Amino acid sequence: MTMLPFDDRDGFIWYNGEIIPWRDARIHVLSHGLHYASSVFEGERAYGGKIFKMKEHHERLLRSGALLGFQIPYSVAEIDLACEEVLKVNNIVDGYLRPVAWRGSEMMAVSAQKSKIHLAIAAWEWPAYFSADARLEGIRLDFAEWRRPDPATAPVASKAAGLYMIATLSKHAAEAKGYNDALMLDYRGQIAEATGANVFLVQDGKIHTPIPDCFLDGITRQTVIALARSKGYEVIERAIMPEELANTQEVFLTGTAVEVTPVREIAHYSFTPGAITRDLLLGYDEMVRKPG
Ligand SMILES: Cc1ncc(COP(=O)(O)O)c(C=O)c1O
Repeated sequence: MTMLPFDDRDGFIWYNGEIIPWRDARIHVLSHGLHYASSVFEGERAYGGKIFKMKEHHERLLRSGALLGFQIPYSVAEIDLACEEVLKVNNIVDGYLRPVAWRGSEMMAVSAQKSKIHLAIAAWEWPAYFSADARLEGIRLDFAEWRRPDPATAPVASKAAGLYMIATLSKHAAEAKGYNDALMLDYRGQIAEATGANVFLVQDGKIHTPIPDCFLDGITRQTVIALARSKGYEVIERAIMPEELANTQEVFLTGTAVEVTPVREIAHYSFTPGAITRDLLLGYDEMVRKPG
């Protein structure tokens, strides 16, 4: 499959308050964000022209910047409007939005207190490619060699670009072995999350998920926990060791991009996506696509 490179597409990008042609949305090579990972971003989806949990994403974007010591110079309401404008000018109904903020070029050293904070927002089409039945076949994960760091080591609640370095390494290693993604343990050896999604286990009819104390407490994670509880399932947030996968019947991931994605294998453990995964996958699909 040939991929259209992301810097050579038609369309428009919102860049520091203006809508500009897609190909003109450039940064200088001497940007602090590029050299020192002083960058935070969001991943959001629009369904039927409406951005799901838009306010929550933009509140998290501002919080992520604050955790890296910078203030994004736009309010949540301004970013909401900017995202809606990006969808409109690009005629996107079902798509993915990527706001990104970073420190600019005024200072090029570890200390960059006076650098300008930039914000850009791009969006591209992302229709539903696979039916629920195809998705229910499940994906395959390997264990990652890299671990999610201790909250004393990194600002783990920030959706910060730097935290994705180990995610890319882990996903590439898993893909090289024929897997779809990697399951990351945390610094204590507990199950943490996949490289871009949270994880849930079904054991004897109950849903278990790790406490998000060293990784992102995903907006989809919170949505699916509420959905599961509203359907009468018991959801338990607790420390989970990888050996417990032996007593686990179903596993699924949650995230803006993956929505609810069943998992059929994690290294030598196998699962059968079952009734609870199916119920939540369909329930989430229905919720995000609900008009109004
Ligand atoms: C590392 C990581 N964990 C979890 C998630 C899920 O977060 P959300 O449901 O807010 O998309 C994401 C995706 O944003 C992610 O990149």
